[in-house]
Amino acid sequence: MAHIHSGTETFPRHRSPSERSDFTIVQDWATYSREEHETWRLLFQRQEAVLAHRACGEFLRGMQDLGVAADGIPDFRRLNDVLQKTTQWSIVAVPGLVPDAIFFDHLAHRQFPSTCFIRRRDQLDYLQEPDVFHDIFGHVPMLMNPVFADYMQAYGLGGLKALHLGALHHLARLYWYTVEFGLIATGEGLRIYGSGIVSSKGESIYCLEDPRPNRIAFDLMRVMRTRYRIDDYQESYVVIDSFDQLFQATQPDFTPYYDALSRLSDIDAGEVLPTDRLLHRGRAVAR
Ligand code: PHE
Ligand code: CO
Repeated sequence: MAHIHSGTETFPRHRSPSERSDFTIVQDWATYSREEHETWRLLFQRQEAVLAHRACGEFLRGMQDLGVAADGIPDFRRLNDVLQKTTQWSIVAVPGLVPDAIFFDHLAHRQFPSTCFIRRRDQLDYLQEPDVFHDIFGHVPMLMNPVFADYMQAYGLGGLKALHLGALHHLARLYWYTVEFGLIATGEGLRIYGSGIVSSKGESIYCLEDPRPNRIAFDLMRVMRTRYRIDDYQESYVVIDSFDQLFQATQPDFTPYYDALSRLSDIDAGEVLPTDRLLHRGRAVAR
């Protein structure tokens, strides 16, 4: 969560706090340095190679249709021209993590809050907090997909509701296991759509090819009971069959679900239940 600092403190470029109530700032694209653009290109080229046969078709198509992301840190105004026309979403610049209510309110209005700063050269492989590469490369291609675009807006509205019902920890797990770390089963096997995976070279390979993590078929209540880790590769990934499945499953009013969840125990990130359907390389596996 971002806190508003006051007084004489100075902030690195692109990281000064917002003075607006919706936490937005201006990207100030013209002030990025050559080096910052070069860092983006390095990350972009690496991921392009890794994701060719690992990311799902929807992601790769979205990236291609955006068309303005390969040369350097994209100008949000140019991305928005394309995004607006395609799914009526837009990107708004923010200084860092924003309060939950602000974040959900942006999503509910089909606005995706993105950071502006880019990681340092010694942080290419790992960064604790989202930067512009994660937020734009990771999230925006999927926002070009009409079904996923509607899911994200519905999630924002659901977030505001969960906040009032005190159930945010359950709904946050759904975001984590779908938007950030989701896999999808396709005719060619498992593919990635989660933004936290597509923006990480190591995890893009690990999530599909490493024998260690569990790959569990999507089950809404199961997901909302499952803890997650934020400091390492995931121990379990959740696999959807289609974006329609995800959208349909999340349509009902969650109020009774939250009620039921309050009486159910949490499941550990690495735990496998007898009722889980496990997948590997797109096929069901025996236990
Ligand atoms: N249907 C959910 C609710 O009523 C909202 C939601 C939609 C949550 C899509 C997540 C994804 O709370
Ligand atoms: Co993210």
